[in-house]
Amino acid sequence: MQSEFACDVRAGLSKPQKELHSKYLYDDLGSALFDAITLLPEYGLTRADERLLIRYAPAIPREFSCVAELGSGSGRKTRPVLEALRGPRYFPIDVSCAALDRCQHELAGAAEIVPIEASYLDGLTHVAAHRNGDPLLVLFLGSTVGNFEPRCRTEFLAQVRSRMRTGDALLVGFDLLKPVEMLLAAYDDPAGVTAAFNLNLLGRVNRELDGNFDLRAFCHEARFDPNGHRIEMHLNSRCDQTVKIRRADFSCTLREGETIWTESSHKFAEDEIPPMARAAGFECETQWIDREWPFCESLWRAS
Ligand SMILES: C[S@@+](CC[C@H](N)C(=O)[O-])C[C@H]1O[C@@H](n2cnc3c(N)ncnc32)[C@H](O)[C@@H]1O
Repeated sequence: MQSEFACDVRAGLSKPQKELHSKYLYDDLGSALFDAITLLPEYGLTRADERLLIRYAPAIPREFSCVAELGSGSGRKTRPVLEALRGPRYFPIDVSCAALDRCQHELAGAAEIVPIEASYLDGLTHVAAHRNGDPLLVLFLGSTVGNFEPRCRTEFLAQVRSRMRTGDALLVGFDLLKPVEMLLAAYDDPAGVTAAFNLNLLGRVNRELDGNFDLRAFCHEARFDPNGHRIEMHLNSRCDQTVKIRRADFSCTLREGETIWTESSHKFAEDEIPPMARAAGFECETQWIDREWPFCESLWRAS
C-alpha cells in the first residue's frame, strides 16, 4: 500500500497545474532551512511576530493554564507567551519531528511540554481530550494561516473552533499587505536559502519515494498574484523532462517553463480579520500591529 505522501504526490503531479502540498516542505532538512529563512534580513515576518509577542504577551488574559500551538516549528517566539502565563501546560503540534525536538529544547523550563507529532486538527483533537477542563489558548503564529486557500481557511478555522470551548481563545498571526518588492525579496532572497527550502521538497521525494528529480533542472520562483493578494512559490522546470517516482508508481513529464506550485502565502488587510473571526465562530477581542513590517497579531475569543 502506498503512503499518504506517495498518494498526495501522485495526485498533485497529475493536476493541470502540478502541485506538491506545502506541509511536505518540512522534513528534517526543510525545518532547518525554514529556521534559517527566519534569520534572513529580507524576511521581516518572524521578527515582527516576535516583537509583538514580546511586547504584548503580558496583555494576554492570565486565565489560560493550557496552551496548544498549531505548527509550532522551533517554538522560539512562544517563550514570552508561556512566561506571561506562568508556565502553563503546552502542547506544540507539528508534522515535523525535528521541529518538535528543537521546540522542546528551545522552551525547556518555560512550561510543561507535551509534544504532539500530528497534523493540526488531529493534534488539537488530542489536546481537547487531554486538557482536563483547563481554559485553553490556541496559538497559530507566523501567518501560517496564510498558507490556506481562502475557501478552505474559514472551514479550517471553524474546525479549530469546534475543538475548543466557549471562552477559549485563539491568537493568530497575519502578515499584512505591503509593497510587492518587500514581499518578493522575502520569498526569493539573494543568498538562495528560500530556493534551497523549496527545492528540498523534490529532494525529499527522491529520498523517501525513490524519485529521480534532478534538482539542478529546476529553479525556484516567487511570484505575487495581485488579485489573490498572495505570494506563490513554484519550482520551474528548466527543460523538457520526464521524472519517475518509483514508490508512488508514477511518472510525469514537464515542459520547459512548466511549474510545480508548492506554497501560497496570502497577505491580509487589517479590516478583513474581524469578519473572518466571526465567520469561524469567534469574536475578535484585540489586534496588535507591527508597523515596521506590517504584521497583525489578533486575539479571538470562542463565542
Ligand atoms: C511556516 S512554519 C511556522 C513555524 C512557526 N509557527 C513560526 O511562526 O515560525 C509552519 C510549521 O507548521 C508545520 N506544519 C505545516 N503543515 C502542517 C500541518 N498540516 N499540520 C501540522 N503542522 C504543520 C511545519 O512543519 C512548520 O513547522
